[in-house]
Amino acid sequence: MTVNVSQSPAGVMTLSLERPDKKNALSLVMYQQLTEALQHAERDPAVKVVVLQGSDSCFSSGNDLQDFLTAGELNAHHPTVAFLYQLNAFTKPVIAAVAGLAIGIGTTALLHCDLVYAAPGCRFQMPFSQLGLCPEAASSLLLPQLVGYQRAAQYLLLGEAFDTDKAEAMGLVNQQVASDKLLDFAAEKALALAKLPAEAVQHSKALLRGKIKRKADKVIATELEVFGELLKSDACQQQLQTFFTKK
Ligand code: COA
Repeated sequence: MTVNVSQSPAGVMTLSLERPDKKNALSLVMYQQLTEALQHAERDPAVKVVVLQGSDSCFSSGNDLQDFLTAGELNAHHPTVAFLYQLNAFTKPVIAAVAGLAIGIGTTALLHCDLVYAAPGCRFQMPFSQLGLCPEAASSLLLPQLVGYQRAAQYLLLGEAFDTDKAEAMGLVNQQVASDKLLDFAAEKALALAKLPAEAVQHSKALLRGKIKRKADKVIATELEVFGELLKSDACQQQLQTFFTKK
C-alpha cells in the first residue's frame, strides 16, 4: 500500500498510486506520502512538473472507505485534509493520467490538475450523496465552474457515473489515450512542460488559477465542516457498513 515517488533528471516527479488489491483506494498513509512528495516538489527547484497516476488499468477507487468509518476530526493535521490543501496550493503543473476507475477523490483531484489524459472507457464518479456525504476538494466550486450547474448537480447530487467520452466533452479530460500508451504519453507531455522555462510556466499557472485557488481554499474548509458532520450521521455510517457487509 503505497505511493511510489520517482524523480527524473529532466525535472519530472511521478507519483504512482500502487495499491492494486484495493483498486488504489487512498489510505491515510498514501495521503501523507502524496502531501510530503508535493511539499518536496514545491521546494525543490529541480522539480518542474508532477505526474499523478495509477496503473494503466486503474487510477483510484477514491478514499479508503474503511478510513471513513474511523475518521477522526477533519482538521488541518488530518492526512486527507492536509493533502487537499497542499494540492490546491501547489504552484507547479500537475498532469494526471487516468485509467479504469476515478471514483470520489479520484475524480475531484483532477479538478486541481492542469492537464488530464485518460484511457477510453474510464468510470468517473463522485458518489458523495449516495454515501450520505457531500462534495469535497472544492468540487462544489470547481465542477459547476467547469461543466455548468445542472451537469454538476447530476454528478454531485445524483452521483451518476460518466465515461471518458463525457469527461472529454465536458473539458475535465484533455485527450483520450489508449491505456497501453497512457503513462508514456503523460510522461512525454510532462517532459515537454519540463523543458519550457520554469518561471514562465509557474507564473502562467498562477495567472490561470490563482484567483480560483484562493476561493477554493475557503470552499475546502466549508465543505469539510459539513463533510465531517455528515460522516458521523447514521445514513452515512449505514452506507459504509453496507459496502463492507455486501463484500
Ligand atoms: N475503499 C476501501 N476499499 C475499497 C475501495 C475503497 N474506496 N474500493 C474498492 N475497495 C476494495 C474492495 O473492498 C475489495 O476489497 P476485497 O478484495 O478485500 O474485498 C477490492 O478493493 C476490490 O474491489 P471490488 O469492489 O471487488 O472491485 P469491483 O471492480 O467489483 O468494484 C468499485 C470497484 C470501485 C466500483 C467498488 O469497489 C466501489 O464501489 N468502491 C467504493 C468506491 C467509493 O465509494 N469510493 C469513495 C468515494 S467518496
